[in-house]
Amino acid sequence: MPNIRIMTLDDYDAVTDLMRNTPGISLRDADSREATARYLERNPGMSFVAEVGGVLVACMMCGHDGRRGYLQHLLVLPAYRRQGVANALVERCLTSLAQLGIRKCHLDVFKTNESAARYWQGQGWQLRTDIDRYSFTRQGDDNA
Ligand SMILES: CC(C)(COP(=O)(O)OP(=O)(O)OC[C@H]1O[C@@H](n2cnc3c(N)ncnc32)[C@H](O)[C@@H]1OP(=O)(O)O)[C@@H](O)C(=O)NCCC(=O)NCCS
Repeated sequence: MPNIRIMTLDDYDAVTDLMRNTPGISLRDADSREATARYLERNPGMSFVAEVGGVLVACMMCGHDGRRGYLQHLLVLPAYRRQGVANALVERCLTSLAQLGIRKCHLDVFKTNESAARYWQGQGWQLRTDIDRYSFTRQGDDNA
């Protein structure tokens, strides 16, 4: 089993490489180095990576808004799948949330990512059909 440890900003390049090379995962503005630094600072000790011989093979990011937890970017390199790595990462994230008293957690999955849907449903996560997510992007000056 790969070694699991807390993700730091030093892992940023390796994590984004993993994301870039994994079908079903997309990199967005919110995944910039600056935004990731802010995320890790606001959610200390809640995101994790798995490594083998110093090489990163899996990651999972986790944060919260004070009431609910949010999981992002779970991915495991194909050669290390079906060994319990994803479950171990999710468990570490859920434990870190529970330590703050947060027991409910959400995550987004692209509708096209059927394999991920099977994974989450297989682990007892409930597909919400009662909620539509709305998003809005404010345009303009980044410093506003
Ligand atoms: C989905 C993913 C993270 C699973 O990682 P993994 O390390 O292979 O998962 P685990 O070995 O911890 O599997 C745990 C359980 O889920 C099952 N499982 C794993 N992948 C599954 C899949 N694609 N479909 C259905 N079940 C799956 C395992 O059989 C195991 O079952 P068990 O608890 O009954 O033994 C991995 O396939 C992946 O990185 N996929 C590409 C990225 C991605 O789509 N991420 C999700 C974005 S929301």
